[in-house]
Amino acid sequence: MVVTIASLAVLAAVPWPVYSLLALRQVRDWRPAEARKAALGLLGYAAGVAGAWALLPQSLPYLAGAGALWLLGERIRAHNRWGAWSGLPPGSLSLAPHGPWTDEAYFRKGRERYGPVFKFTRYFKPCICVIGHERAAEILGKKRDALGLPPLAMSHRIPKGYIRFMAPEDREALRVILREGLDCALNEARMARLRAEIDRRMEAAVGAGAFEPRGFCHDLTTDLMLDVIYGVMPGDPAAPAFRAAIATLRRGEAERAGEPEIEAALVRLGALARERADRGDGVLQAAVGADPGRAEDETLLRNLAYITLLGSTDVGDFIVWALKILSEAPEWLADLRAAPDARLADMCGATVKEILRLEQSEFVIRRATEDLTIDGFRVPKGWMIVISTRENHRDPEVYDAPHAFRPARFLGGGRPVVGYRPLGAFDRTCLGAPIVDLVGTQVVRALARGIDLKVTGGDPRRYAAQHWRPNPAFRVAFACRPKVA
Ligand code: HEM
Repeated sequence: MVVTIASLAVLAAVPWPVYSLLALRQVRDWRPAEARKAALGLLGYAAGVAGAWALLPQSLPYLAGAGALWLLGERIRAHNRWGAWSGLPPGSLSLAPHGPWTDEAYFRKGRERYGPVFKFTRYFKPCICVIGHERAAEILGKKRDALGLPPLAMSHRIPKGYIRFMAPEDREALRVILREGLDCALNEARMARLRAEIDRRMEAAVGAGAFEPRGFCHDLTTDLMLDVIYGVMPGDPAAPAFRAAIATLRRGEAERAGEPEIEAALVRLGALARERADRGDGVLQAAVGADPGRAEDETLLRNLAYITLLGSTDVGDFIVWALKILSEAPEWLADLRAAPDARLADMCGATVKEILRLEQSEFVIRRATEDLTIDGFRVPKGWMIVISTRENHRDPEVYDAPHAFRPARFLGGGRPVVGYRPLGAFDRTCLGAPIVDLVGTQVVRALARGIDLKVTGGDPRRYAAQHWRPNPAFRVAFACRPKVA
């Protein structure tokens, strides 16, 4: 009896690391479908153990022995010197640490404990975290030919993949098409229209009481991106159909829409895009105007769909941070409000840079496509390399009071250049930089000139889908304030 109870206890402990990680809300929210599958797997395991106990009770001690060996192996790998003999960096490869999901200072603590290059596990995969500006530049620049990206499901829905996952020559060709398209689309008339739309939407929310800002911001930025990419303005009769298809892709990214639904949305967006290809001056029309054959290019059309989705998500989430951070910085808001027009543009730009320094750009991630060496440490082929932009942006040697919100550091000549990379680097630099700048600046300007901000909730921050975010209880209310002359 004692042996049976001890065996069952060991067998119950075996899946504990997996179970405890999947039980985290941050992980369940990020990958609900995968979490469901894993939960089924755990049920299957429990059924297997129960079956063995009922049918072959004498096998339990042997199974428990195998389980105990597995647990011991996991603990040995968790020792920070594990793998040192083969050149691996220090750090724990414990199977399912919670820190990356629950502790904003996880990478900082890792650096303090192990140094700027250390190993850890993220979602069961072995990773190397790299901190330091020169190291980041060397990896993203000089070592880029030895790096790939971890695959994303959505890329498989596009014939040649999503831009970030394409073969280098295809990606460079698409970057040229997109850059040229964005140059055309972001003309003076459109930029004025986007700014007016931001003002209009923010003013419309004035006095409407507290609202959930993420939905509000995503609705706004989706409309802005539909205008830039497809030339579809909010009042356009086709706008609801575009919005509905993008909304389905958004649910798909959160694993809340199934493959057939996502595929139907992509087909629908392709048809809508083809109908619009010769009307308007968005990125789509610029691309098709230069080469009419592109209207049938599924890789281009599906990339445009996902760029609309992901660009609007990133900028929308950035605005949410802007609202949160500015609500906690009344002195800077007062400075913005008192600033003469001639100075306001510079101050708004500095505000956007400082918010991006602090939030919404946590890391860039790569996968070693061959064995690599970083700082003398071995990085085995297939391992993930996580370059911590967050820690680089909080380097006390570059930034005074690195955790504090101090936009003035970006004013005039005070802009630190070393290691400021919120929008990526080198051949993979973000193509949406002008959009981020335009939208961010206009939101800050609206708060400086016309709108008062009240917030509730928001803390503690929560990690969700690759980013730290204000708590889901975060609510915002806009109120009118007298215009400053
Ligand atoms: C605050 C908002 C945004 C942030 C923080 C952001 C950040 C980034 C970062 C860090 C990368 C490089 C990723 C890597 O190296 O793995 C990137 C790439 C990219 N971004 Fe953004 N982005 C934002 C908004 C946008 C917008 C509005 C667009 C729309 C055009 C956009 C389009 C892209 C594209 C297409 C790439 C891939 C470039 C390539 O792989 O060649 N982004 N972004």
